[in-house]
Amino acid sequence: MNDLDPLVNAAQAAFAGAATPAELENAKARFLGKSGRVTDLLKGLAALTPDEKKTRGAAINATKQRVEEALNARRQALAEAELERQLHAEALDVSLPGRRRGIGGLHPITRAMERIEAIFASMGFDVADGPEIETDCYSFTALNNPENHPARSMQDTFYVDVKDAEGRWLNLRPHTSPMQVRYARAHAERHATALAAGLQTPEIRVIVPGRTYRVDNDATHSPMFHQVEGLWIGENISFKDLKAVYLAFIRAFFETDDLQIRFRPSYFPFTEPSAEIDMMFGSGPLAGRWLEVSGSGQVHPQVIRNMGLDPERHIGFAFGSGIDRLAMLRYGVGDLRVFFEGDLRFLAQFK
Ligand code: DAH
Repeated sequence: MNDLDPLVNAAQAAFAGAATPAELENAKARFLGKSGRVTDLLKGLAALTPDEKKTRGAAINATKQRVEEALNARRQALAEAELERQLHAEALDVSLPGRRRGIGGLHPITRAMERIEAIFASMGFDVADGPEIETDCYSFTALNNPENHPARSMQDTFYVDVKDAEGRWLNLRPHTSPMQVRYARAHAERHATALAAGLQTPEIRVIVPGRTYRVDNDATHSPMFHQVEGLWIGENISFKDLKAVYLAFIRAFFETDDLQIRFRPSYFPFTEPSAEIDMMFGSGPLAGRWLEVSGSGQVHPQVIRNMGLDPERHIGFAFGSGIDRLAMLRYGVGDLRVFFEGDLRFLAQFK
């Protein structure tokens, strides 16, 4: 025990009482600062004799050292406490399950299209894709639907503010039928030499699924909708082939043989004769009701000619079915518009 011990104790108590680095620096100033208590003691040495200075000086220096040690110990303790606090605040619970990303699924219309493609591919049909912005010729005229013909209003569509080479407005195709002519023309060009020589050429057997547009909007019509066109042209293809193909398709699509189809006379400029295809389930909630699913017919001789083929030799059928309608029936959806509203509560059901 010496007379300087209380000073060391006071310094330790003051440092211990400092809860933050700033408080600690204030406490330090009171002991080791310019006019701190230890500094004052050292100033007092000046008044002593050389001998006294020696012993007193050594004692004060020892005291100063102890105060500095106490200060450093407290500094370190506060730094460790701060580190501890930070680590705690940023703690990660690695045992928590991670947030999963939502896993998407195919849109029900895409699923329906893929089904349709797979079924027709299994029957030897090619799958083709065509432009959604069409010329007047392909959408109408080449399909035997001349300008000002009233049948054009059956396919009232949207026009694009650009004209084609003939000076006619481009349109958003109102049906997939233009691809009948595009596809068949490409086929005729590919086999031009054989055709000119009167030789037999491969048949045309193709489906064209895709987006189509019309000025229509209610529970069963959307301005943008989907169709699948079918075309089979050969040397002896008749309505009986259409019936067999369509029945096989519709039964595969709905995964049941418990349904029938019927052909109901109709009119389309590009077919003669023309028919609507209706289907009827034998069981289930829609049993016993005829449901219209497709337009169809024997391709009109003028359209065969527009394809670059000879109607005396080439004959066949075409159909155009509404994919959305088929998807509605398959999935039991009552309002077509929900397919296109992008509501995940609806779409997530189709994973
Ligand atoms: N393109 C017609 C429509 O959208 C449907 C159609 C009818 C297509 C008869 C055909 C067909 O290929 O032969 O209303």
